[in-house]
This record gives sequence, C-alpha cells and structure tokens, in this order.
Amino acid sequence: MPSIRGHNLLIIGGSAGIGAAVAKLAAAEGVNVAIASSNPDRVATTIKILKETLLNANITGYVCDVSQADTEQQLEKLLTDVTAALGAPLDHIAYTASFLEFKPVSAVTMEWITQTSGHLPFNVPALLGKVAPRFLRRAPTSSLVFTGGRITDKPIPGLAILAGWATALTGFARSLAVEVAPIRVNLVSPGSTDTDHHGPPEVRGPKMAAVAKASLLGKVGKAEEVAEAYIYLMKDSNCTGARLAQRAAWQVIFGCTPTSDWPDCLSFFNHGLSFKGAYTFLSITMSIKPTHALFEINCRCLKICK
Ligand SMILES: NC(=O)c1ccc[n+]([C@@H]2O[C@H](COP(=O)([O-])OP(=O)(O)OC[C@H]3O[C@@H](n4cnc5c(N)ncnc54)[C@H](OP(=O)(O)O)[C@@H]3O)[C@@H](O)[C@H]2O)c1
Repeated sequence: MPSIRGHNLLIIGGSAGIGAAVAKLAAAEGVNVAIASSNPDRVATTIKILKETLLNANITGYVCDVSQADTEQQLEKLLTDVTAALGAPLDHIAYTASFLEFKPVSAVTMEWITQTSGHLPFNVPALLGKVAPRFLRRAPTSSLVFTGGRITDKPIPGLAILAGWATALTGFARSLAVEVAPIRVNLVSPGSTDTDHHGPPEVRGPKMAAVAKASLLGKVGKAEEVAEAYIYLMKDSNCTGARLAQRAAWQVIFGCTPTSDWPDCLSFFNHGLSFKGAYTFLSITMSIKPTHALFEINCRCLKICK
C-alpha cells in the first residue's frame, strides 16, 4: 500500500471519537494532521493529548462550527486557513462530525426534516463536495472520506429519518466520485462504536454492553479499529466510490436482513469464508442481472446457523 507519510490531512470532527482516532493513526504514519470541530476546549484538549502521545507529530487544531446556516462560508474559511498554514493543498479530508437528533417518523415536521435532521449527516458533506475540490491536490492520491453508518442496511426502530440521510450520503459519495475525479471519494460505514456519540458514561456503558451482547462477536467497535478504514481509503489510490462497512458481524446473525447492496454481499461472503467453516450457509441464492447498467448481485441469505 502506498505510504501517506508527508500527506496533508484535515479531519472535520477530529476532536473526539472516530475522528480523533483517525488523527492519531495518521499522525503516527507521518501525516501532517489538522483537526477541526466546534468546541475550542475540546479541540485544544485533543491536540494536547495527541502531542503528548506522539512527540514528533505535526498536529494543529481549528475551531469550525458546521451546524449553522453559514456552513458553506465556515468550510471555505476553514479550508483557506488550513491550506494557508500548510503552504500547500490538502491530500485528504475526512468528515466525521456528528451531532444527531432523533425523532420517530410520527413526530417529524417539514422544518425539522429539512433544516435539522439532515444537516450534519448530509448537507455538510454535500457542501464539502462543492468546496473541497479547490483545496485538494488534483490527483488519485487525494481523497475525501465521508462517514455513514450501518443504519443504511439494518433498520433500528425510531431511526428511519437518519437511515434516509445515511443512505442518501452513500449514493452521493458514489456519484461525487465521478464528478470530482481524479480526487477519490469514499465512505466509511461504522457499526456501533464505543465513543461519546452514545452519550455520557452512565448511558454509554450500559448501551454498549447491550449492543455487544447482541452482536455475533460479543463486542462493539473501538474508534481505533474503525479509524483503520479511513487510513486504508486514504492510501489506496485505486479505490473510489466505495463504502467500507464495519459492523461486528451482525449480518451473519441468524435471521439477518437480506441486502441487495453488492459490496456488502462480497464482504458477507468474505466474512463467511474467514470463519473457516464455523458457520454453514444453509441457503444462499444469488442472481446476476446483465441488463443492469452496472450488474447487480442480488444476494439473499435465507438462513445461517452455527
Ligand atoms: N459511534 C458509533 O457507534 C457510530 C455508528 C455509526 C456511525 N457513526 C458515525 O461516525 C461519525 C463519528 O462519530 P463518533 O462516534 O466519532 O462521534 P463523537 O465521538 O460524538 O464525535 C463527534 C465529533 O463531531 C464534532 N462535532 C459535533 N458537532 C459539530 C459541529 N457543529 N461542527 C463541527 N464539528 C462538530 C465533535 O466535536 P465538537 O463537540 O467540538 O464540535 C466531535 O469531534 C459520525 O458521522 C457518526 O454518525 C458513529
């Protein structure tokens, strides 16, 4: 895999959770890292911790709130400031900012759907797609990495609107890859990952324990594990329009949801193979429709048991 040593990376949402883990891994690989988020104290604390952990790391922090109506201006200013300080274009931008508000469909309003629910999960990535290419080196070594979630494939009651935005982002990233080539555009789709995203410790602890119990592997993801997916997507100069999913193997649990998303099917088969026969696929049907513009593999896992 090509090295990313010396590359310039900006992580929007890099002061906590998955974004901070990406910052740490990238800095350890010799990448010049800039993190940005809305809370100045959080940015300063994370920079301090990363610098104490990685003594020679080149890490800088920026304050940028992308939750308001002036998001495009905020992004423009952030990218101008970061590239001016670097004296060079960026090689990669990872977007991991998150502040989610949930409402069941029965409680939504037009205003909430259009102005609130989709802002961080979709509107900001869309505006980044507009603004970022001018600040990225125009080469296949450059990349934009967005963040979705397993909600795209695995329904959770009460999260239908979020599932809609996450699914929209998947399609957006794939299409943007065509519009901004040779800059690459990819998406990481984490499963449940133990971060502040799940609330304060008293909420997060029991919630993560319950999710781990229900998962095949008996665990949830760690931010450092998920961060590896972003690093891979930055390194692989052949990879664009892709989605990498990490989900503690919920998809091979008995009674899993059928999916028609072909990269998932492939990862599904890879998982199955890597279990070296510990799991038996009782019934898998697979059909290839050659009439489709791109072929579609329709995979149905009817029953899997241990
Ligand atoms: N953790 C999971 O289980 C999980 C599962 C699936 C998908 N995801 C997705 O993975 C991504 C990262 O999640 P995470 O678990 O790392 O979340 P997290 O620990 O809560 O971190 C979120 C980051 O976003 C920043 N942020 C929040 N509001 C912002 C704003 N208005 N402007 C700029 N930055 C802002 C936060 O910093 P400030 O507070 O300083 O602004 C923080 O750095 C999100 O897209 C999330 O939806 C997470």
